[in-house]
Amino acid sequence: MTDAARSLSRRGALAAMAGAAMLPAGVAAATTASGHGGGLRELAARHGFRMGTAIHNPGLADPRYRALLAGEFSIVSPENVMKWDTVEPERGLADYTAGQLILLPTAQRYGQLVRGHNLVWHAQLPDWLIQKTWTNDQLAAMLQQHITDEVGSFRGRIYAWDVVNEPLNEDGTLRQTLWSQAIGTDYIAQALTWAHAADPGARLYVNDYNLEPLGPKSDAMYVLVQDLMKRQIPIHGVGFQGHLAIQYPYPDTLPQNLRRFAALGLDVAITEADVRMELPVTADKLATQAEYFAGMMSAYLTLPHPVSFTVWGFTDAHSWVPGVFAGQGAATLFDENLRPKPAYDAIRAVLED
Ligand code: G3I
Repeated sequence: MTDAARSLSRRGALAAMAGAAMLPAGVAAATTASGHGGGLRELAARHGFRMGTAIHNPGLADPRYRALLAGEFSIVSPENVMKWDTVEPERGLADYTAGQLILLPTAQRYGQLVRGHNLVWHAQLPDWLIQKTWTNDQLAAMLQQHITDEVGSFRGRIYAWDVVNEPLNEDGTLRQTLWSQAIGTDYIAQALTWAHAADPGARLYVNDYNLEPLGPKSDAMYVLVQDLMKRQIPIHGVGFQGHLAIQYPYPDTLPQNLRRFAALGLDVAITEADVRMELPVTADKLATQAEYFAGMMSAYLTLPHPVSFTVWGFTDAHSWVPGVFAGQGAATLFDENLRPKPAYDAIRAVLED
């Protein structure tokens, strides 16, 4: 392992929080939006956790994007390039180049850890997989192979994996997917076990959306992870995606909810925070968005051992929201011209308080 790769290793990485704030020597182009040094990564490090963002690979072509990425964030998630449809578009020809050649060197240069995203999901599966009928045994074998190969190919260089993504329905029942149908409800335990075998040092997460308030979905996640822990299945963390929208009420019970998971002894991370709105943008809506982001950050700071707070992209120029929710957008901390929005200042204020 090279020195740079070793610096990405998660062993002891969170303990070395001073390193999370500092940029490696030679990164001259880092920018902080505050204009007076000390990006969000430095403020978060003072509280003992890492500030993160999803990386939208096409954005990396823009030097202003790279500068903010370096100056503001100390942990990154690939928005799409580690998903199964990207890494194995043709059966048997798995290719991790996009993750390895773009994401990891970028993260290494900027002193960032990497959250791998994701290994088991019902979406973004390759066409060759979903367009054919397989036996249950074949599906189980393919999933095991996929996890073993992908985790193995990044072994030692990924701080944490979102192993199972979005396993629950809103009412707390288990989502029926290709995987739950083929392997049974224990596919989650199996996936975690396979991932652990491929990289015993990686922190392994189950990750979901709409987990923020106390309620049937977060209750079900609580029962699920408690059961996994009792059975000594390798589970280390729960990811709260944090996709909020200002047209819906803010989840006031977030602090209590985060703390009950932390009390189980698990890592608790915010993994995909953004706050969308109905367009057009107005000053009032931006102010409400700022309150929602600040609320999530304040809730996160109530944890005894915060780990990472990740936004799902940092600029409205590359957000997934408009493509999925027609007429909605402007969900991130920076506008399309990479100017900080009130939400950015609100998060700074919470961290500086
Ligand atoms: O790469 C192709 C491109 O070749 C093609 O021309 C273009 C035409 O549509 O599509 C491109 O792929 C798109 C891909 O993003 C890369 O931009 C897919 O269509 C599009 O579906 C995909 O959307 C991603 C979405 O997951 C897929 O479900 C979003 O970028 C990504 O932000 C989003 O992320 C998810 C998390 O993984 C899990 N939690 C929810 C979150 C938001 O939906």
